[in-house]
Amino acid sequence: MNKAQVVNGVIASILSLINELIAEASIMAITEQQKRLVKASFTKVEPIADTAAELFYNQLFKYDPSLKKLFKSDIKSQGRKLMAALKLAVSSLDNLEKLIPVLEKMAVTHVDYGVKVEDYTPVGNALLYALKQGLGAEFTPELRNAWIDTYTIMATVMRQAAYSDYNPNSYHNTKYYNRAA
Ligand code: HEM
Repeated sequence: MNKAQVVNGVIASILSLINELIAEASIMAITEQQKRLVKASFTKVEPIADTAAELFYNQLFKYDPSLKKLFKSDIKSQGRKLMAALKLAVSSLDNLEKLIPVLEKMAVTHVDYGVKVEDYTPVGNALLYALKQGLGAEFTPELRNAWIDTYTIMATVMRQAAYSDYNPNSYHNTKYYNRAA
């Protein structure tokens, strides 16, 4: 290895460390009030979890029909797994050190399912849609923002763990999907 390669390697390590620190800072940006809002709203979603999951998948496949082929198992049991994972995430908002490794592991498995970095965007929007339908007028703009921040934390951790060229600070969604659906 020559001197230039060593310098490039050091620069790359420093940049990746800076990215991690910035991502961590944005993760910590969720407020106590937002955590409370998200937790309280999830207790209202839980009794209608199956309906919420159905709304979620219908909307996801409207946004992007090509994602359907990634889901091989029964969509109802898949919906339950998704809700269980959301429950764990919501209840661990105060304990991110515990949640982060779980999300990181899950993200790597998702790569094997064929999930791409850009797929986290329609999934996040389908989640907001299902929450809006499920909670009705209780889904206030403040609660919506709290959920956006929560999902952004989850998606950032997962994307960072699974896609080596993902940079949370420069990433822009390029995926076209049917927003009007
Ligand atoms: C916060 C984000 C997400 C959470 C919490 C989540 C949660 C889960 C869970 C708990 C499972 C069950 C198996 C496992 O643990 O690996 C799963 C499977 C799966 N997820 Fe996700 N997921 C997320 C994002 C995504 C995204 C962005 C996609 C893209 C379309 C996706 C597609 C899938 C697929 C295709 C499977 C396998 C389904 C099958 O076997 O039929 N997930 N997910």
